[in-house]
Amino acid sequence: ENAQLKDIIAHAKEYGFVYPSSEIYDGLQAVYDFGPYGVELKNNLKRLWWETMTRLNDNIVGIDAAIFMHPTTWKASGHVDSFNDPMIDNKDSKKRYRADVLIEEKAATYEKAGDKERAQNLLNAMARLLEAEDLAGVRELIINEGITCPLSGTSNWTEVRQFNLMFSTQVGSVAEDASTIYLRPETAQGIFVNFLNVQKTARMKVPFGIAQIGKAFRNEIVARQFIFRMREFEQMEMQFFVRPGSELDWYKEWAGTRMQWHKALGIPEEKLRRHDHEKLAHYANAAMDIEFEFPFGFKEVEGIHSRTDFDLKSHQEYSKKKQQYFDPEINQNYIPYVIETSIGADRLFLMTLCNAYVNEHVDGKERTYLKFHPAIAPVKAAILPLTKKDGLPEKGQEIVNLLKYDFNIVYEDAASIGKRYTRQDLIGTPFCIAVDHQTLEDNTVTIRHRDTTEQERVAIGDLHKRLSEACSF
Ligand code: GAP
Repeated sequence: ENAQLKDIIAHAKEYGFVYPSSEIYDGLQAVYDFGPYGVELKNNLKRLWWETMTRLNDNIVGIDAAIFMHPTTWKASGHVDSFNDPMIDNKDSKKRYRADVLIEEKAATYEKAGDKERAQNLLNAMARLLEAEDLAGVRELIINEGITCPLSGTSNWTEVRQFNLMFSTQVGSVAEDASTIYLRPETAQGIFVNFLNVQKTARMKVPFGIAQIGKAFRNEIVARQFIFRMREFEQMEMQFFVRPGSELDWYKEWAGTRMQWHKALGIPEEKLRRHDHEKLAHYANAAMDIEFEFPFGFKEVEGIHSRTDFDLKSHQEYSKKKQQYFDPEINQNYIPYVIETSIGADRLFLMTLCNAYVNEHVDGKERTYLKFHPAIAPVKAAILPLTKKDGLPEKGQEIVNLLKYDFNIVYEDAASIGKRYTRQDLIGTPFCIAVDHQTLEDNTVTIRHRDTTEQERVAIGDLHKRLSEACSF
């Protein structure tokens, strides 16, 4: 892990954003817990996404489907048969690797050395082998490329095996009746199987969308880069059902809308990139990712996919229940096509955290702060009486009571004002409101701005409006 990511991970733990899961037992790989400021940030991100989808679009409604689904769901979706990673073990270190990642890393070394063609040839060769399900060929390629295990340094590899990423468990108390069910690896299928329920009960007309936020689980083998790739994570997905033939126009529309959303969050344009997929999944006729420049390079944050009628058609086939919509405008029955926007809440969290993290040296002094957009900052304002006497704490509490119903506010009266400012900088609070003796005379306070450290005098009566304006999205 690079130095900047290391700093961010340490900061996230030290200041109550993200802890390793069950840390007292040395943690659980690729599973994390969110602390007091982390949960506020994550909730703010989820709320913003939810409101943008369901409130700003009168043709999108939400649902909350269960994590457990009928096992046939995952046959129909293709996950039982093809949600696999090709894995290979090193016999000496006993470490398991993803074969495709080993090849990608090798290709990256060619590219770094200036040999783009060799890199591309290698990736193409790998893609051909995987498509042909030639796992022996994949092993041969790894050996021929001289790829060694980073731990043992040897190329003593086992055969390559496909490893399904779904977690399974048993329902039913008696072993004989128990049947295997899966923890959902994506939230999307909960939307597809409820397509007609929602369309009928909310009286939706195509084009319309269904949005959902919920946990998903994948038995990721390569667990690296902090919360970028987790085994338990949250997805925010929206399936948009459209008339067949109009899907590519809607795909274009959603690609633009979603990119705009990321910019509105305060992510600079140069840190965002669109990556169009050349190789499409069997169900897609167009697909792209929105990528962000993480400390470890440009990586996917959100996927936008034109999924055709693959999912609904497949569920119709497996369930024997018609998944058709009658379109009164053209007097026709059809299975709608689907544009999907899919983003991980945790990955979005990591993007905003990486983007916000500032460690600067000004006039020989080091300052670290998190420059979150006020709309997503965990704490919007800190109320800080200058001293603990002369009625200043009481005045401070009055201001807390004025604001706390609409904003997440903290109150702190211990330690020097400078130390309290620093503490708020470290958790990304955009406004520190200092209460002093003048406040008692004229009902004004000092607002100190996080990013510039500039201060201004403001009437208490204007605070609510000022915060509302700053925190709007
Ligand atoms: N329904 C489509 C779907 O699930 P995906 O590209 O596999 O597509 C969508 O996942 C998004 O979910 C990704 O862009 C990423 O933000 C997030 N995601 C996927 N796997 C993840 C993991 N292991 N940990 C954290 N986030 C993940």
